[in-house]
Amino acid sequence: MSAPRPFGLLAELTYRCPLACAYCSNPIELARYDDELSTADWQRVFGEAAAMGVLQAHLSGGEPLLRRDLPELVRTACDLGMYTNLVTSAIGLSRPRAEALRAAGLDHVQVSVQADEPATSDRIAGIRSFDKKLEACRLVRELGWPLTVNVVLHRQNIERIGAIVDLVERLGADRVELANTQYYGWAWRNRSSLLPTREQLDRAEEVVTAARARLAGSMEVVHVLPDYYSRYPKPCMGGWAQRQLTVAPNGDALPCPAAQTLPLPRASVRDTGLDEIWTSAPLFTAYRGEDWMQEPCRTCDRREVDLGGCRCQAFQLTGDAAATDPVCHLSPEHGLVEDVVSEANRPARVDLELAPRPHR
Ligand code: SF4
Ligand code: FES
Repeated sequence: MSAPRPFGLLAELTYRCPLACAYCSNPIELARYDDELSTADWQRVFGEAAAMGVLQAHLSGGEPLLRRDLPELVRTACDLGMYTNLVTSAIGLSRPRAEALRAAGLDHVQVSVQADEPATSDRIAGIRSFDKKLEACRLVRELGWPLTVNVVLHRQNIERIGAIVDLVERLGADRVELANTQYYGWAWRNRSSLLPTREQLDRAEEVVTAARARLAGSMEVVHVLPDYYSRYPKPCMGGWAQRQLTVAPNGDALPCPAAQTLPLPRASVRDTGLDEIWTSAPLFTAYRGEDWMQEPCRTCDRREVDLGGCRCQAFQLTGDAAATDPVCHLSPEHGLVEDVVSEANRPARVDLELAPRPHR
């Protein structure tokens, strides 16, 4: 069977970042990524991606604005016909920088915000950043870009969700993404401080439903629920190596941003073309399709719907990346998730301090 064609490239240009968010899902061993791809390397990768049919380039990190060559990279991706999306904390998005990116052809900006007011936002980000973020959002709108505001939700900010939506509305965003934390990287270490209670989630859902009705036609409200409270897992990444690929700052090519944790040989764009990696690197072929599935997924009616869930989560929780994602209530290992959920909902539980990710 021939490989499907990828649609989107997540270009993680650097893992350096001025923020120190306790929910960061980037790898913990950041030193492995210090040797970043050069401008010419990235330009070649974009060319190879475009030749494979990739239509969207998400320029992310870490903080992609720390790459001085960002406008050059944007221009290359645009010249190749790709839609370019900058995924940023907005720290460093000064007016001259923004104007250079506008001139280079950047299509869309996604800014992360940690809460609706400075004290909580700055505590979660590990640095004073709230006011700069709002300024940058206003600049994005002034320069005519579509704006998405992304807010990672967790136990420490989810109760502010109503005020968060109000803030994003005031900023004139086209879209708000309220995404509960995914437990990889640093977030995995902080999991017990981040997982919300069922009551918090129910209240948040009510707020989102009301906001969607109120804002219909003016702002899209996306709400991503935490996997741990779902009966079934999500079809992570739309299926393993089906539609998306990631290139890490050091050139590692990955089917999803968390896949560097899996015990499979690395594939690097430094030594192999992107098309060859996509088509035949073991990291990409291992869980493509359904042949790898074990019971209960192998014979389950939902296997084409959720594709067995998330491979990285299955590996993280069970040590076997081909296992059914333990989020699924049919998984023999579902108790691993139930235990964490019960602990998060224990009455009178004292909230633990967040450990901020170290700066680099
Ligand atoms: Fe999905 Fe597998 Fe659970 Fe079936 S058993 S619902 S395919 S994760
Ligand atoms: Fe890697 Fe879900 S995060 S497959």
